[in-house]
Amino acid sequence: MSEFRTLVLSQRACRRFDPNGKVHESDIEQMLQLAVHAPSAENTQPWSFVVVRDEESRKLLADWWTETWNAGGGDFVKQSLDDQVLIDDLEFGFARGGFAAAPVVIVVCADTARVAEIYAPSSIYPAVQNLLLAAADLGYGSCLTTGLTTFGIERVRELLALPDTLLPMAAVYVGQSLKKLSPPRRRPALEVTYREKFGNAW
Ligand SMILES: Cc1cc2nc3c(=O)[nH]c(=O)nc-3n(C[C@H](O)[C@H](O)[C@H](O)COP(=O)(O)O)c2cc1C
Repeated sequence: MSEFRTLVLSQRACRRFDPNGKVHESDIEQMLQLAVHAPSAENTQPWSFVVVRDEESRKLLADWWTETWNAGGGDFVKQSLDDQVLIDDLEFGFARGGFAAAPVVIVVCADTARVAEIYAPSSIYPAVQNLLLAAADLGYGSCLTTGLTTFGIERVRELLALPDTLLPMAAVYVGQSLKKLSPPRRRPALEVTYREKFGNAW
């Protein structure tokens, strides 16, 4: 199997980080170099990245997640999910400070001066995926979270000194994973693929 396939087939969301694990500056730069090679609508490349290493800022971001989880975000997730392993893992990330232990948070922003807001997510997430794969390739654990807006976009803007045109869309936590993650669980591709028309099984 090619290294690329092995990487893609093993990439997982990590929510348990070694608080003493190091992330090298040169590795962050490599991840970002791969991120910006992603496609974007009309090649607008509307992303900006804010790399947060400062302990106080990371703690604030983590506290806001905990607040959001406790204010009903957690209940909402639990209502629609019947996967207890995933619920426990999500809870660890949000509520018990799992993400707070990640030494690096990369906040990915969309520049609404370069891309219409409705195209922002589809133009940002290919770069985010490159970032996650690059982190895995370098041996780091990582996890993507979205919905920074749910705990107050203005708080994030103020914390990171973002101009009004920058929309913080994703936070990517990067660090050393505390444990080796099991393989990803996915439905088989051919189970969700149809021939010519939806409903004709492959
Ligand atoms: C758009 C998006 C949003 C996500 N948001 C969160 C999140 O808020 N918190 C979290 O712990 N994981 C988040 N994840 C990670 C998913 O929960 C994870 O990829 C999924 O459960 C599959 O698990 P695996 O990647 O470890 O196989 C997100 C993933 C995506 C693509």
